[in-house]
Amino acid sequence: MLDRIRSRFRRKPSVKTLSPDNIPQHVAIIMDGNGRWAKSRGLPRVAGHHSGMKAVKRVTMAADRLGIKYLTLYAFSTENWKRPKSEVDFLMKLPQEFLAIELEELIANNVQVRMMGYKEGLPSHTLQALETAIERTAGNTGLVLNFALNYGSRKEMMDTVRQLCQEAAEGHLQPGGLTEADFEARLLSGGMPDPDLLIRTSGELRISNFMMWQLAYSELWFTEVYWPEFSEEHFLEAVSEYQRRARRYGGL
Ligand code: FPP
Repeated sequence: MLDRIRSRFRRKPSVKTLSPDNIPQHVAIIMDGNGRWAKSRGLPRVAGHHSGMKAVKRVTMAADRLGIKYLTLYAFSTENWKRPKSEVDFLMKLPQEFLAIELEELIANNVQVRMMGYKEGLPSHTLQALETAIERTAGNTGLVLNFALNYGSRKEMMDTVRQLCQEAAEGHLQPGGLTEADFEARLLSGGMPDPDLLIRTSGELRISNFMMWQLAYSELWFTEVYWPEFSEEHFLEAVSEYQRRARRYGGL
């Protein structure tokens, strides 16, 4: 009750009301609700994905303005191949369309594009668009825009285990001496800090095989808002809530 009254009178978050000393370094987002957004408007599901692409732009720019260092967006999971081919084909065209429109502005804003996921199975046009963007932005030092594409956390962890076993079998490492850092370095996210904040839109309260190792101590923030409607204001609200959390990492 008290919480509801407090939140009613809380000032709307803006860049000015946020504490510049406590900006999350890495924000990860499960962009959910495209299909339901489209259905609620009598549109085909793919119209929701297309509108979701515009939210990607809004949130990327908002993250950049806030000084967030890493933004990871779950764009396609290793399980999403189960969807109808027409929907998969549409989703695979979005990186290409997005980058055709936005790459120059991303470059002008010093954004570095990366991809976290499996290249196998991706159509060549998708891969080529991403590889061009990755190459052209490799020297940029601003926001890292990391697309989780054909990504799945269980596969990522299993592949890492396999790789470690292989290295042990070849005598390059001692199983008894393995550290968390050894494991982390071999994950697809190797080299990036763990997400400080995970956002999931559309009211679903699941992790859905997304960065399960890396999210161990992330702050979780869920909203009912469907991804295509997710605005800069929603994003600031999430960061503002993050700033009110006390992160204890199991301590006191
Ligand atoms: C989940 O919503 C969303 C996806 C599987 C795709 C997300 C992709 C985008 C937002 C566009 C990505 C853009 C670029 C540039 C890569 P859903 O379809 O499962 O929604 P539903 O649960 O309402 O059906």
